[in-house]
Amino acid sequence: MKTSRALLILDSDREFLKNFEASLREFYTSFAATTEEEAQKILESEHIDAMFFNKDSGDAESGIDALKRLKALAPELPVIVLTDNPTVETAVEAIKVGAYHYGAKSLHVGELRAFVEKAVQEAMLKRDYERIRDELSRLSGKIVGRSAEIKRILEQIRRVAMTDVTVLVMGESGTGKELVAQEIHTLSKRAQKPFVAVNCASLVRGLVESELFGHQRGSFTGAMQNKLGKFELAEDGTIFLDEIADLDLQSQVKLLRVLQEKVVDRVGGSMPIPIDVRVIAATNRNLSEMTTKGEFREDLYYRLNIFPITLPPLRQHKDDIPLLVQYYLERYGPELGKPNLSVSQSGMEFMMQYDWPGNVRELQNTIQRAILFCSSQKIEASDLPKEITEGKVTTAENIPLPLIEKQAKESAARLAILNALEQTGWNVKKSAQILSIPEKTLYDKCSNLGIKLKKVNKI
Ligand SMILES: Nc1ncnc2c1ncn2[C@@H]1O[C@H](COP(=O)(O)OP(=O)(O)OP(=O)(O)O)[C@@H](O)[C@H]1O
Ligand SMILES: [Mg+2]
Repeated sequence: MKTSRALLILDSDREFLKNFEASLREFYTSFAATTEEEAQKILESEHIDAMFFNKDSGDAESGIDALKRLKALAPELPVIVLTDNPTVETAVEAIKVGAYHYGAKSLHVGELRAFVEKAVQEAMLKRDYERIRDELSRLSGKIVGRSAEIKRILEQIRRVAMTDVTVLVMGESGTGKELVAQEIHTLSKRAQKPFVAVNCASLVRGLVESELFGHQRGSFTGAMQNKLGKFELAEDGTIFLDEIADLDLQSQVKLLRVLQEKVVDRVGGSMPIPIDVRVIAATNRNLSEMTTKGEFREDLYYRLNIFPITLPPLRQHKDDIPLLVQYYLERYGPELGKPNLSVSQSGMEFMMQYDWPGNVRELQNTIQRAILFCSSQKIEASDLPKEITEGKVTTAENIPLPLIEKQAKESAARLAILNALEQTGWNVKKSAQILSIPEKTLYDKCSNLGIKLKKVNKI
């Protein structure tokens, strides 16, 4: 019986493709590609459930590289690698870059089907798991802050969440624009419906309209099936149009129509489709300035700017820093094996003085790093990146120079060791070689610096 599943098969051998397609025609719709570029186009325009990939098209190295690039395009897609001559080395290589299974090209139909079904089931489970995890982190990842600036933002969120009004979230990178969009959705009556985030900057040129509004089968070369656009996927829920300034002018006209008429026109479709979707857009650029320069449509800007929320950069609400630091210590400390951490007074001083060009995201990364690097129960100034501590004088504590030097040395050693371990997949022997020290010394140093060595499976 034919299922609705669609397969993509990439192989330079046209004869093989023909036979493959024919043998599975009864069960699946197959899209054939003879080159990586063709496969890429299909992945961009079709919904594919699993991919078969022949590693032997081209030389071994380039085969694996091509697979890496295709996986980057569709990270959740299960891939089954086929080859004429399977070896352990290439199997390991393929599985490392995310292939689901590895087998000989001579597999028969029953085996192929079993692979497809199992791979698709597992991908579905994984997606469910990730959705639940995202949902949880969304609920627990609330907006932290007690400053007047953050209170004003929370009040705006509360007021607008009840309505269906279009919201434009503005602010520098890392100020929490996406977090605010999620919070509005969570507090709205649409909370149980989808929240669909679209990054307008990463939409593939030429496919923007099909991505947003969907397309009708046969409307352009490569459109072999009907495809729902993000707006239709967000039906009854919220669509988050991130980096809206990057939307090309032609798509801006189409978006304006959606906002005005509350209908979408699928590419190649004959009838407009009514939709009920709440729109939240975000940008870190100055849209008003862009409209004066003709880079962004003025009419669309006014439609989006009905309820603007402008997030302050962290340097304008520094009084929230201690609370944010505490929040990230509690959130990441236990999971990195270090509960009950605190920050030394001088460490906190430096963080209060610093201007945080990367805003809350930079603070979050700094704390994660400091948790990894610190060797005691306290995060010291020396555990912080040098851009935060360099060239500034702290008056809070009288720290003797020898102690500062010792800590700086330890911190540098820890960084070098962790880098080497990461680079080698936590292989002690290879790391010791990189660091030009005997293996035994590396074990000792790790133990002194509190670096727990992970167990590695030797392949
Ligand atoms: N007030 C806050 N409380 C807690 N976490 C925050 C706060 N503001 C931002 N964050 C966290 O900082 C990180 C960056 O936030 P987010 O991705 O929403 O920023 P953004 O404004 O969309 O940045 P960009 O323009 O770079 O995409 C996220 O992990 C987010 O959870
Ligand atoms: Mg963002």
